[in-house]
Amino acid sequence: MDPSMWIDVTSERFNYSLNHFVIPRHYENDLENILIPNGLIMDRIEALAQLIVQDTDGPIVACCVLKGGHQFFADLMNQMKKWITKSRKHIPLSLEFIKVKSYVNDRSTGDVQISLTEDELKDLEGKHLLIVEDIIDTGNTMVRLLKHLEQYSPASVRVASLLLKKTPLSCGYIPDYVGFAIPDAFVVGYALDYNEHFRDLDHICVINETGKTKYAIKQA
Ligand code: HPA
Ligand code: MG
Repeated sequence: MDPSMWIDVTSERFNYSLNHFVIPRHYENDLENILIPNGLIMDRIEALAQLIVQDTDGPIVACCVLKGGHQFFADLMNQMKKWITKSRKHIPLSLEFIKVKSYVNDRSTGDVQISLTEDELKDLEGKHLLIVEDIIDTGNTMVRLLKHLEQYSPASVRVASLLLKKTPLSCGYIPDYVGFAIPDAFVVGYALDYNEHFRDLDHICVINETGKTKYAIKQA
């Protein structure tokens, strides 16, 4: 996907007030602003699904990167099924779930834990993989995950990420499909978390200092 196809929400224009949409009471003091309202996320996913289906011939193993990717994965799979049916292509979808964790507070720990068993990994041989991720930030997690998966000889690997953060800490990795390019801020909601909090928020929002402090994990 050409970068001109990403929706760039790094400009000041994409800064909705918390009063413009509905926010759960338990988070109303912990957010700076709404960056991407849920309705916009849903419309964007429909367009991504159509592109992915257009680019595909044959069976796909869609791999959800947990936990943050689960909401995007569920909504993307629904839209892909719709477009596969409409296009009358023969594209069976099977689903796989990978748990990857690398963030404590708002920092990457550099340490990636991957949860598939050896048997599950061996099953990937010869398959067309679509990795579904919530966010590419530094890119280190995805680069490590791809390196790990390549050892099991899949036929192809493509990555769809809902968000791509524009950060100087980026390792330069760019996914095949991107929903939105976002500013260098810590975002939560739509299953993205800060130390496991805020996954139950529908919109993608920027966390504020109150939120970061309130839900921080104290490290030795
Ligand atoms: N928000 C939530 N999770 C993340 C982020 C972020 O901005 N970057 C990497 N993981
Ligand atoms: Mg996360």
